Amino acid sequence: MIRPEQGKLFAVIGNPVRHSLSPIMMSAAFKVMGVRALYAALYVDELARDLDLLHKAGYSGLSVTVPYKEIACRLSVEVDQTAEDIGAVNTLLRDNHGWQGRNTDWIGALRAISRVTEIGDRNALVLGAGGAARAVAYALKRAGAHVTISNRCVERGRNLSEQFRCNFVPLNSLEKNRAHYDIVAQCTSVGLTENRHAALVSNSFFQPGMTVMDIVYGARPTAFSTSARNAGCSIVSGLDMLLYQGAAQLEWWLGRPVPDSPVIAAMRQALEESASHEEPR
Ligand code: ATR
Repeated sequence: MIRPEQGKLFAVIGNPVRHSLSPIMMSAAFKVMGVRALYAALYVDELARDLDLLHKAGYSGLSVTVPYKEIACRLSVEVDQTAEDIGAVNTLLRDNHGWQGRNTDWIGALRAISRVTEIGDRNALVLGAGGAARAVAYALKRAGAHVTISNRCVERGRNLSEQFRCNFVPLNSLEKNRAHYDIVAQCTSVGLTENRHAALVSNSFFQPGMTVMDIVYGARPTAFSTSARNAGCSIVSGLDMLLYQGAAQLEWWLGRPVPDSPVIAAMRQALEESASHEEPR
């Protein structure tokens, strides 16, 4: 039998996961909240088997990242209504029955974007159709935006747009269909690792007045957010989405509120400090 002796065990699981700032952010929260807990970043390559191992090793809460958010939804013994509607889970909590799933990405996206712009009645474009894109599209729709999905794989993008009753444009014809978008959310994994400087759209795609969020975060801006900033767009920080989805995870795991002051403030400070010290990728 394995039993953690230093308090509760939490982790972010994914592939890749080395880039994750979640351990720094969550550790800062535990410290300021006085919670005895450890939070790790763990590479996993076989989710069903590895979830069982993590339970046996004593982990009680997990953050789920690329590319496991949709499969984690299917592997959960139970998910709440929002996670079911989104079709993706970024948060797992272990109880006697198994891993329970919820989605807090949509909360993070909503809080982060709302700091920069109104969402209701705006035209919004979501790039991507994976688990993260599902949560962001859900958040934008729920806040009253008119959402268009664009994805490289047409079938996957079309399926999502049909499920969410929104428009779809294949990624390779996005720039031919010059529609006007007030809000653009980059939710693909382009920019995450080796393709950090790959261009998803051309520079001329960005127009002044657009509000642009890239969920890929880090010390150095991605090619996507640099082009947007240079074109005069308002930028939503990907770190803000990470921060607010993480605060919502903590509230569920710990069963207590995570107030802006001092907890979210300490998480933000830890993120900003570590992002500024991060090695170039
Ligand atoms: P997550 O669950 O974190 O969203 P995911 O399910 O692996 O991760 O989804 C990754 C998204 O990034 C998908 O929308 C994927 O597009 P496809 O559905 O066409 O695969 C998108 N993506 C990854 N690499 C890409 C690339 N080089 N160009 C365009 N889109 C890319």
